[in-house]
Amino acid sequence: MKVIAVVSAKGGVGKTTLAANLASVLANSGRRVIALDLDPQNALRLHFGVPLDSIDGLSRATLSGNPWQTVMFDGIDGVTVLPYGAVLEDDRRRFEAYLDQHPQWLAHMLQHLRLEPSDIVIVDTPPGSSVYVRTALTAATFALNVVLADAASYAAIPQMERLIASYAAPRPEFGGVGYVVNQIDQSRQLTKDVLKVLRDMLAGRVFPGVIHLDEGVSEALACDTTLIHYDPLSQAAADLRACGAWLTAALDAIAVPPRNVA
Ligand SMILES: Nc1ncnc2c1ncn2[C@@H]1O[C@H](COP(=O)(O)OP(=O)(O)O)[C@@H](O)[C@H]1O
Ligand SMILES: [Mg+2]
Repeated sequence: MKVIAVVSAKGGVGKTTLAANLASVLANSGRRVIALDLDPQNALRLHFGVPLDSIDGLSRATLSGNPWQTVMFDGIDGVTVLPYGAVLEDDRRRFEAYLDQHPQWLAHMLQHLRLEPSDIVIVDTPPGSSVYVRTALTAATFALNVVLADAASYAAIPQMERLIASYAAPRPEFGGVGYVVNQIDQSRQLTKDVLKVLRDMLAGRVFPGVIHLDEGVSEALACDTTLIHYDPLSQAAADLRACGAWLTAALDAIAVPPRNVA
């Protein structure tokens, strides 16, 4: 099992979009994929056709002691979806306190699913530092940092690097960080300039392509599905497939030492 934590220092960059679409791409390539939402916005499920009025998810299951199997949905493209769930403010705080007190919660729960070595878990997170990002990084084999080609994303990179260095890098099974630049509009000179600076700075760790800005991304979400499914011939869908191939190669290059289930 490989666990990908999808992270970013800033919000609105496309973490959830990429988590969902890359899950679809990897599932279409024949891998078993679990898309797991650790963001209280509970939005990952919307890409997979989980009903809008469904309130079930990891947060509620954890607080009520129910097994994860009760909140797993069969999403489109064969992806298994574990939503965050809809909770009231008090329960959200209780869940966050629980995660704070049990930093190994995610790693342990995933071990108990007894997944195959080739299976992939993609974890979506909220932006910046939070108990959710710490939890995801503590279980991650790979961190996928989503950035935009703008000055704010560039300036925020060291913040996420510090979190990764604290929570993921010390573990022997952690395989490293990869960067993906999203929402690229090649007609803007500033975008091209910042992209070049990002590539120089992140040499060797960044997806060699980009994910283009594409209206189909929001249209797909409006139709409760992924872009890969909604408009497979679009530029961004091609970008996402190339990104999935790059990600698969990066994951397959990581040797994961066996871990005993407590
Ligand atoms: N490549 C893209 N092209 C067009 N719109 C995009 C693209 N990636 C993300 N978006 C849009 O940007 C907004 C934020 O994306 P989202 O995935 O929710 O970001 P995050 O999870 O980082 O907050 C959404 O409206 C989404 O549809
Ligand atoms: Mg999000």
